[in-house]
Amino acid sequence: MSRILVTGAAGYIGSAFCKEGLERGFNIIGIDNFSNSSDQSINFLMESKQHNFTFSEVDLCKDLESLREIFVNNDINYVVHFAGFKSVIESQMHPKMYWDNNLESTKNLTRIMLEYGVKNILFSSSASVYGKSNNQPVSEACKLKPMSVYGATKEANEKFLEDLSTKGNLKTISLRYFNPVGNIQMMPVNSPRQDSKNLMDNIIDVCIGETKELNIFGDDYKTSDGTAERDFIHIQDLIDAHFESLKYFEQLNGYEVFNIGTGNSVSVKNIIKTFKEVNSIEFVVKISDRREGDVPICYADNSKAKNILKWEAKKDLREMCLDAWRPYKK
Ligand SMILES: NC(=O)c1ccc[n+]([C@@H]2O[C@H](COP(=O)([O-])OP(=O)(O)OC[C@H]3O[C@@H](n4cnc5c(N)ncnc54)[C@H](O)[C@@H]3O)[C@@H](O)[C@H]2O)c1
Repeated sequence: MSRILVTGAAGYIGSAFCKEGLERGFNIIGIDNFSNSSDQSINFLMESKQHNFTFSEVDLCKDLESLREIFVNNDINYVVHFAGFKSVIESQMHPKMYWDNNLESTKNLTRIMLEYGVKNILFSSSASVYGKSNNQPVSEACKLKPMSVYGATKEANEKFLEDLSTKGNLKTISLRYFNPVGNIQMMPVNSPRQDSKNLMDNIIDVCIGETKELNIFGDDYKTSDGTAERDFIHIQDLIDAHFESLKYFEQLNGYEVFNIGTGNSVSVKNIIKTFKEVNSIEFVVKISDRREGDVPICYADNSKAKNILKWEAKKDLREMCLDAWRPYKK
C-alpha cells in the first residue's frame, strides 16, 4: 500500500486525514512541530494500535536534516501538506510570522521532495485566496484577490507549486477548502492558539463556559440577514475529497486546483441558530464591529471537483453542528 507523508499531522484536519488514511490501509508518516496543536491526536493514533503509523516532531522551517532523514528512510509516494498557520485575524496581527512559516515550510518540503524524486504533493489551500469576489459562487477560474495576509500566503504557495509543477518536476493538487467544521467520531479535539480560533471554536468556547458571549463580527453586510455568509463543510466530507484527489494523481500532469465546499451559502446567524436547535443549547450572542480581512460572502462553485474528482459533500448543516458539539456532551 502507498506511503504518505502528512505534514501538520497533529492538527485539526491533518489528524482526521491520518485516522481515515490508516483505516483505508495507507502507511502514514506524520510530522508536526505542535505550534498549533498538542500531542493528543498523535497519541490517539499511536494507541489505536496502528502499525502503519509513525510520527516525528519536525519543524519544516528549521529541521531540514530531520526531514531529509525521513525521506532517506522511507519510500514516499505522496506528500499531503497541511502544515501552516491558518488564521485570517492572526495573520493581520503577525504578517511576518505568517509569511515566514507558510512559505518557508513549503519551500523546504519541496526542496527535499525534489532531492529524493518524490513527485506528488497535495496542498491545503483556502477559499481566502478569492477575497471579496462579486461572482458568487466562486469558481477556480475567478481572479484571486486575497484580502488578508493569510490568503496572500496561500496564493503565493499555489503559485510557487504551480511553477514547480509546470516544469514537470512535481505534480501538485491544491484543494481550496471552504469552512470545515464538526469532528470525526472518536478523535480527540484539537486545541488551537486563542488567536487562531474560528467561528465554531468560538461557539464551543461559549458553550463550555470558556467565554461569556459569542461575538458576531458585523451585521451590516449586504447578505440575507446582514451577517457574513460562508460555505461550511463537514470535516468528513473534506477528508474524503483528499482520497479522491490521491486517485487523480495517476491522470495528472503538472498542476490542478479544486474548490472543496458544499456550494451552500450559510449566514453566521443561521449556523448559530442551527447549532442551538440541534444541540438544545442556549448562549448569549453579541454583535461587534466587522473585522479586518473578513469578506461579506464566499461560497463554492464545486462543479469542477464533482466532474473531475467525482467527489461531492454529503453531510448537512445539522450534522456539522451535532458533530461539532458531540465530543463535549456530558
Ligand atoms: N481549518 C480551516 O478552517 C481551514 C480552511 C482552509 C484552509 N485550511 C488549511 O488547512 C491546513 C490545515 O488546517 P487545520 O485546520 O488542520 O490547522 P491546524 O492549525 O489545526 O493544523 C496545522 C498543523 O500544522 C502544524 N504546523 C504549523 N507550522 C508548522 C511547521 N513549520 N512545521 C511543522 N508543523 C507545523 C501545527 O502545529 C498544526 O498542528 C492549513 O494549511 C490551513 O491553512 C484550514
